[in-house]
Amino acid sequence: MTRFAYVNGRYQPHADAMIHIEDRGFQFADAIYEVWSVRAGELMDADGHFARLDRSLRELRITNPKTEAGYRLVIAELLRRNRVRDGLVYLQISRGRARRDHAFPSGPVRPTVVMTTKRLDHAAAQRRADAGVAVISLPDQRWARRDIKTVNLLPNVLAKQAAHEAGAAEAWLVDAGGQVTEGASTNAWIVTADGVLVTRQTDHDILHGITRARIIQRAQALGYTIEERAFTVAEAQSAREAFMTSATSFVTPIIRIDNRPVGNGAPGSVATALRSAYLEPI
Ligand code: PDD
Repeated sequence: MTRFAYVNGRYQPHADAMIHIEDRGFQFADAIYEVWSVRAGELMDADGHFARLDRSLRELRITNPKTEAGYRLVIAELLRRNRVRDGLVYLQISRGRARRDHAFPSGPVRPTVVMTTKRLDHAAAQRRADAGVAVISLPDQRWARRDIKTVNLLPNVLAKQAAHEAGAAEAWLVDAGGQVTEGASTNAWIVTADGVLVTRQTDHDILHGITRARIIQRAQALGYTIEERAFTVAEAQSAREAFMTSATSFVTPIIRIDNRPVGNGAPGSVATALRSAYLEPI
């Protein structure tokens, strides 16, 4: 079966799909992206991801080349062609192709639109969540606008690689003040001894996770108290629970931070309940 990618209005065999070498995404990481999880053929939290896509483009002053309805048509067609029922949709939009020059191109440039899909084994992810995962902490070396979902991900890539080499699933990034910002590709949470859920406030220092926002709603509906504030690695290590959220990991319990067990070293009941609540509606 041929796997397809969508590139600038055309469905192309994935293996041959290409963009130009002078694309500004390639040259400067002058591009944004979005990731939707797909479960049983349905996009999860579709509206939140579309809203963040719009915001990322606005922040970089890239004119959105498509309507939401237009993206939805392409997503549906690509999922159909690639027979993806469980997996993810990746969309990247760059400022477009132009002669290399740091400042924006002076003439009109058509943004580059690339979409791919990937199958994911949600059962394997569930087994990972059932076992819980380890994280390590590392200095946060990223730029000052982490709220924009750009493809400028080199610090995240290096941190994730370091985590994997340390046998951990994720790296928690720590700011100059010693507070955890977020994971390399997930938002970070703890549950205090009093059962309060803590996750960092949404400012320019973290990506405003769509799963994070949804979990806040879910948790409040279940009667939990949420505090949006920063916490240190030490506070997390002595917390009752820790967990991470993202479109692809949903809610995943964290059982070790820098080789120290969190709580009793097993997935916590709050994280487990929130994961079930998040996965319920479909
Ligand atoms: N990562 N923080 C960072 C740095 C992220 O890259 C992500 C998402 C999140 C969680 O956001 P959301 O809940 O909207 O997925 C937080 C995606 C999945 C990725 O890069 O593949």
